Amino acid sequence: IPIPSSSNLVTNTDSVLVLANKKYRLHADYTPKDLVVPNVKFVSEEYHSKKLMRQDASKALEELFSQAKRDDIDIFALSGYRSYQRQEYIFSSKVMERGINVANQTSAKPGESEHQTGLAMDVTSPSVNFQLTQYFGQTKEGKWLEENAPKYGFIIRYPAGKEDITKYNYEPWHIRYVGTDAAQYIMNNNITLEEYLGKV
Ligand code: DAL
Ligand code: ZN
Repeated sequence: IPIPSSSNLVTNTDSVLVLANKKYRLHADYTPKDLVVPNVKFVSEEYHSKKLMRQDASKALEELFSQAKRDDIDIFALSGYRSYQRQEYIFSSKVMERGINVANQTSAKPGESEHQTGLAMDVTSPSVNFQLTQYFGQTKEGKWLEENAPKYGFIIRYPAGKEDITKYNYEPWHIRYVGTDAAQYIMNNNITLEEYLGKV
């Protein structure tokens, strides 16, 4: 694994506005202290550390999923918190399966993934066979998620058309908790977290 060396180590790791991307990385030892399993529908039944999220994000996710249920929207949580070591495994697996170029566009290197912050969750639905696919963005569930996530403090973190800024392909399934004020501002103004923070 080519461990990034030119990127900056972030210091505000426990902030809901923490930036983890190709320029700002988390320390290998960073694990959030308040990880819990949200009480929402998951694709898998059994306990797994990937179900974890930070407390505030978990509570917001539960509210988002309650609203989905009321609106008759069938969504499931798939993958939240990942340790640095698990991300290392996921990234290197992707390199072996798809090559370095695809891996760089779709998977974060260890330290550069928002999943390590405990503030991100991948969401999917039966309408896409529980896959993480860009087609999710065109489904009823994907459209509902994009529209409703900001009310609960979540953004679609890697939007279509912003690949030059986020440095990742469009991911309609990856929601990131930033708090309601930031989320609504970001989505209403069609910007990314990088732009919101002035760190493009
Ligand atoms: N798929 C996102 C970029 C991640 O690996 O964190
Ligand atoms: Zn994700």
